[in-house]
Amino acid sequence: MRIDIITCLPDLFEGPLTQSIVKRSISKGLVELKIHNLRDYSSNKHLNVDDYAFGGGAGMVLMIEPIDKCISKLKAEREYDEIIYLTPDGETYNQGIANQLSLKKNFILLCGHYKGVDQRVRDHLITKEVSIGDYVLSGGELAAMVLTDSLIRLVPGVLNDETSALSDSFQDNLLAPPVYTRPSDYKGWKVPEVLTSGHEANIDSWRQEQALKQTKERRPDLLQ
Ligand code: ADE
Repeated sequence: MRIDIITCLPDLFEGPLTQSIVKRSISKGLVELKIHNLRDYSSNKHLNVDDYAFGGGAGMVLMIEPIDKCISKLKAEREYDEIIYLTPDGETYNQGIANQLSLKKNFILLCGHYKGVDQRVRDHLITKEVSIGDYVLSGGELAAMVLTDSLIRLVPGVLNDETSALSDSFQDNLLAPPVYTRPSDYKGWKVPEVLTSGHEANIDSWRQEQALKQTKERRPDLLQ
């Protein structure tokens, strides 16, 4: 999988995407992740990438030209399956969308900022618009990191058997069951006996029951 992220704040990506599973997937050669600074595509001597909105109103708008230049350069190098704009008015992201997208190979993620992007970017260059929830972030960067992390963990070989994405919450529309580790008794707070019984079939059915119970209590909407 290859993910190209277009942003005017490339430094934001230093932390979360250079650690842990994402870092390992890149060093294993399973994932390529490239961050592109929109300012590198500005034709303006101050390297501006935004301008005032036509018709007035507060807030700056990202200009089409640097975005188009960056996307065109990338598209000339390889084919992209989706060019995704992160925006609060996009389709709400969930595990189902993550699973569908994970079957594809090459993505461009465009991070919006300020008041958004020139509508012509959305009309002519973008193939999909995604929101990570009904709240407004300062920009699309955190949302792009959420998509990147959730997609990378679905790439075959990124997770080992124990951490398999198949046992994640939401994967079968059920929340994950509770987990415990040593000690089995802490201040009298005990681990459920079945988990230390060594009886695999009983453990499996306990986990299944607990997953259903958690889902009924916390997210009954998932069972509909
Ligand atoms: N940009 C700002 N808010 C956002 C959200 N909720 N999801 C995706 N991108 C955003």
